[in-house]
Amino acid sequence: MKTNTINPSSSSSLPYDKIHNNARNHKNFTKSYKNGVPPILLWFLGLTSCFSLFLLYSTNPFHFSSQQHIQQQQQKEERQFPPITTRPHPIKQQSGDDKCDLFKGKWVPDLNGSQYTANSCTTIPESKNCFKNGRIDIDFVNWRWKPEGCELPRFDPHTFLKIVGGKKLAFVGDSVARNHMESLLCLLSQAEVPMDVHKDSEDRFRTWHFPSSNFTLMIFWSKFLVKSEERMVNNSGTGSFNLHFDKIDEKWASKLPGLDYVIVSTAHWFFRKNYLYEQGKLIGCVYCDEPNTPELGLNYALRMSIRSALKYINNCKGCKKNMVTLIRTFSPAHFENGAWDTGGGCNRTSPHGEEKGKEIEMEKRFELELRELQIEELERARIEDKGEEKRKLRVLDITRAMLMRPDGHPGEFWGNKWMKGYNDCVHWCLPGPVDAWSDFLLAVLQKEVGL
Ligand SMILES: *[C@@H]1O[C@H](CO)[C@@H](O)[C@H](O)[C@H]1NC(C)=O
Ligand SMILES: *[C@@H]1O[C@H](CO)[C@@H](O)[C@H](O)[C@H]1NC(C)=O
Ligand SMILES: *[C@@H]1O[C@H](CO)[C@@H](O)[C@H](O)[C@H]1NC(C)=O
Ligand SMILES: *[C@@H]1O[C@H](CO)[C@@H](O)[C@H](O)[C@H]1NC(C)=O
Repeated sequence: MKTNTINPSSSSSLPYDKIHNNARNHKNFTKSYKNGVPPILLWFLGLTSCFSLFLLYSTNPFHFSSQQHIQQQQQKEERQFPPITTRPHPIKQQSGDDKCDLFKGKWVPDLNGSQYTANSCTTIPESKNCFKNGRIDIDFVNWRWKPEGCELPRFDPHTFLKIVGGKKLAFVGDSVARNHMESLLCLLSQAEVPMDVHKDSEDRFRTWHFPSSNFTLMIFWSKFLVKSEERMVNNSGTGSFNLHFDKIDEKWASKLPGLDYVIVSTAHWFFRKNYLYEQGKLIGCVYCDEPNTPELGLNYALRMSIRSALKYINNCKGCKKNMVTLIRTFSPAHFENGAWDTGGGCNRTSPHGEEKGKEIEMEKRFELELRELQIEELERARIEDKGEEKRKLRVLDITRAMLMRPDGHPGEFWGNKWMKGYNDCVHWCLPGPVDAWSDFLLAVLQKEVGL
């Protein structure tokens, strides 16, 4: 991939302050929201994601793919997508108590701290090794998730390995999916040292094996889940992609046979100018302003890609009958006081509390909407599954919990000194609150096997 450095000043004319001030004005925010997503917010999200694509979706975060800055988003109606015929039921994961939604709750202090350190987990990547890279506040690891009305036990690697022994689990997605895999790897390595079995030349596809439990852990890289190719101009990448909703990304899909568990996620690569295709025909674009090409909106693109992925899984011929598919919902970023390239950062040292929680739910309506559409698509896929054997579709609904954790990102402590001045408020420190995703995962799998 062609790489070059970014020129931070190249986008300095963008109205960041305006964005920020507007986004903070709740009244304006909710008012404009009623008529669709505020363009200001799309803007902000676009810039936020720019950060991610520049810095961290590369497996080598020290390089930047060449990208243009996202052009000003015009306010346009999102195209109506076909409404789902049945109202989605709220999807709940129970632990014992049928009334308990594991994913709704709050963070409470837990002085037991993290279950691993950079010493006891040797696979923490430099970019997420916050303590090693200078972070000195440690309180951010001293919290656990407390669902309303029940408990979410902390991850127990022995219990997990017992459940997945002899099985294969794969993560499919972008670098945030990878972040979860890396966290799970650390949690499990406290019980058994994994063997590094396979990695491709770009380290996009990786396989680990836990010999004594014969558990195989894999990650398959896919930015959009559907087939995509980058638009090229004069032989260099533009940072915009063509997405084909009717074609799956075979690189992951062809690897489904033999899997017992697959954890699918996607979102962050949709925050950029992309072109949308169906049956080889251009049907619209996102973050675009082009004559004769309708702006369909990020939500539409994300929705259609998840729909395609789930449709593929529902109809997968070679897949194991009992394969469990989990959709991991949107993982929010937490830039404050600017965007990634205008000094925005995330230097908080504790979670948002409950009072702030209500405010966050207002402020982060857009993020919550992405979560909702992901859950709606899961529900739609369940309804549309006409196969003899119903696929097992579950949700890892982490969005609300993670909205409360602005303190969990590498921020400035992400170990790339020449990028000093830029913050990573997208990915999560290891150890850190992302480890709770595996608390959720274990609870869901336990329920699956009736433990
Ligand atoms: C530490 O963990 C144990 C067992 O999970 C729990 O009972 C205890 O309350 C925790 N301690 C603190 C200080 O949170
Ligand atoms: C290990 O698990 C794989 C499936 O993941 C299975 O095919 C294989 O037979 C198992 N090996 C042993 C020694 O049990
Ligand atoms: C592509 O290259 C040609 C010839 O060098 C140049 O005139 C044109 O401006 C380039 N197009 C873009 C979009 O950079
Ligand atoms: C956190 O960042 C803000 C600007 O984003 C700055 O004003 C504040 O001083 C920082 N706080 C700490 C403790 O560094």
